[in-house]
Amino acid sequence: MNRKYDALMQPLELPCGVTVKNRFFKAPMSEAMGTKEFGPSPELARLYRRWALGGTGILVTGNVMVDHRHLGEPGNVVVEDERHLAALKEWAAAGTANGAQLWMQLNHPGLQSPRSVNPAPVAPSAVNPPTGLEAAFAAPRALTLDEVHDVRQRFVAAATIAQKAGFTGVEVHAAHGYLLSQFLSPATNRRTDEYGGSLENRMRLLVEIVRAIREAVGPGFPIGVKLNSSDGDPQGFTEDESLLVAARLSGEGVDVLDISGGTYTRPTMQDGVGVFFADYARRLAEVVPTPVALTGGFRTPEQMAEAVSSGMSELVGIGRPLVVNPAWPGEILDGQARPVRLPRITTGFKRADRKLQGAMVNTWYEMQLRRLAQGRDVALRGRGDQAHGDGWAAMAFALRMHGPAALKRRRLGQRS
Ligand SMILES: Cc1cc2nc3c(=O)[nH]c(=O)nc-3n(C[C@H](O)[C@H](O)[C@H](O)COP(=O)(O)O)c2cc1C
Repeated sequence: MNRKYDALMQPLELPCGVTVKNRFFKAPMSEAMGTKEFGPSPELARLYRRWALGGTGILVTGNVMVDHRHLGEPGNVVVEDERHLAALKEWAAAGTANGAQLWMQLNHPGLQSPRSVNPAPVAPSAVNPPTGLEAAFAAPRALTLDEVHDVRQRFVAAATIAQKAGFTGVEVHAAHGYLLSQFLSPATNRRTDEYGGSLENRMRLLVEIVRAIREAVGPGFPIGVKLNSSDGDPQGFTEDESLLVAARLSGEGVDVLDISGGTYTRPTMQDGVGVFFADYARRLAEVVPTPVALTGGFRTPEQMAEAVSSGMSELVGIGRPLVVNPAWPGEILDGQARPVRLPRITTGFKRADRKLQGAMVNTWYEMQLRRLAQGRDVALRGRGDQAHGDGWAAMAFALRMHGPAALKRRRLGQRS
């Protein structure tokens, strides 16, 4: 054991009373490994067993959808009823090996649901599709009041089934410009009923969902919320508003606030510099006692130990580095820690790289998740600092998986 990183190996007691074994928090990354019937494939269990054995304290799954009519992308798992309970149980058993927590991230994409999977998306209001992505996304219609209540019920149903299957917690996705994030933002929420207008009204659906999940799962079951520090849009959800929502969620007994930022149009969640959203996290720590998982940009054990020992963040949210090295947390705690360098994903042509950046990089990571599930390591070309990922292979994979729509930016850009 390495004393230098002591802060990272301290157990953490969550507000609900559950103790997490250490401070590593695997950030949700959409695996796109659902079956045709939207169930979890056996590969998901294999992938999560690998991460569990790699030493991480909390594993959050990639986003699981609460409505099969509204997917974020092809290959999503959907939980609406108990038809996939047996496969969900296998996933849960694998992901809780080695004392890891396994939390299911629950999501509804709202307007961020591409045409390839959804010709008729919904949103708080009938606003435009994401700017610059009009070809890939249809314009949404506004949810009726009954449909808003149905969305709430779907989050609760999915959380209850996750608990029954053996997942040890859930995370409600209210960040990155998806439906609950659209409700929070005045740029996408122009409703005039009790779910729109004032911040109190815009956060109502999220607060109601958290409260209803708590009632359904009982007091001892962890509930996390992934929340934007801001949308990166001055007309959207701001840092000051986010702090007020965080305080309210804390009052509702949320166990972890997973802090991120941005939307499809402004992908700050993946292309920040240093540790992303650190200034916001410092402000948050001053006003809210709830444990925070700050996510984005952690690449060295020193950064992570410093974030925890300085009180900026109780947990460190790690995404892409846990694809490059799924055993990183265990290695750090054993004292063999090295930084993780994210490989450059490249076609070898600067112009093509610029044009394909978002789709190519995310698809490269999706491809690597499949390799990890097969027990292989990530595919790198070259060695040391020259090691890079093959952009052409990623694009071929994207076309196979998603058709020509793959060439449009589906998710986010990435520079770090
Ligand atoms: C391939 C991929 C898929 C992602 N899918 C999700 C997701 O389903 N839900 C979510 O909240 N964030 C998702 N993210 C964002 C990550 O959780 C995280 O916020 C981001 O990668 C920044 O952390 P990092 O710098 O440690 O990678 C995804 C990121 C990547 C690279």
